[in-house]
Amino acid sequence: MTINDLFHRSDFLIIGHRGAAGLAPENTIASFRLAIELGCPMLELDVQRIYSEDGTPRLVVFHDDKLDRTTNAKGLITDYSVEALEKVRCADDLAIPMLEDVITLLAAHPNVGLNIELKSKATADLVAQTIQANPHIPVLVSSFHHDELARFRKVDKATPVAPLFARWREDMRDLANNLDAVAINIAATSLTATRMQALLESKLPIFAYTVNTPSKADKLQQLGLKGIFTDRPDKLEKYLLS
Ligand code: G3P
Ligand code: MG
Repeated sequence: MTINDLFHRSDFLIIGHRGAAGLAPENTIASFRLAIELGCPMLELDVQRIYSEDGTPRLVVFHDDKLDRTTNAKGLITDYSVEALEKVRCADDLAIPMLEDVITLLAAHPNVGLNIELKSKATADLVAQTIQANPHIPVLVSSFHHDELARFRKVDKATPVAPLFARWREDMRDLANNLDAVAINIAATSLTATRMQALLESKLPIFAYTVNTPSKADKLQQLGLKGIFTDRPDKLEKYLLS
């Protein structure tokens, strides 16, 4: 299974945003497991670089800069070592996973793809190394940090990439082409029918985040989108593969 296979397998790809973030604590193994159980053909997660006490850089799966919103600890995640983070708990007493933990889960689900979002800078090289060590996982790498994504493209010329955009920009297609991207990922709130028409001229598949209702999903599919990131895969059953 490759990312290309996944793009072609479904008419409209449902990507589990931070797992199934509307149903389980985001970016936890429980959330990823639930998204898989609900039939998501692809999962999305955010990675940041932290260090072990011995100075080894590692990739942690976490969205915010700070621990405050989603855990029982406070402060910047980058101020914590891997060992210190092991004691931190998300809701439901769940641990914060490292990227390897999610890869271990996915090893048992070879048909499920993984969208790794480079959430912070200085993640490209480590992500490339991790992908190289786990070639069986179909991975798409994306980022709002287009310089970091360009760095990734330089060190890994094979893994598919997609730039992320929080807002509409006229140069999106150029940026995607420069990265040799396979898709454009964009905030659903910044899309209109006219803008979609312009974007479709790029011939690249377009994926929008974060879409949690079937009515919004239907509308975006009619506009020509190829899929969505969702917190609520349970509501999008009709698009999920059985
Ligand atoms: O990759 C889609 C989406 O995850 C981007 O926004 O803030 O949820 O990481 P965010
Ligand atoms: Mg994300």
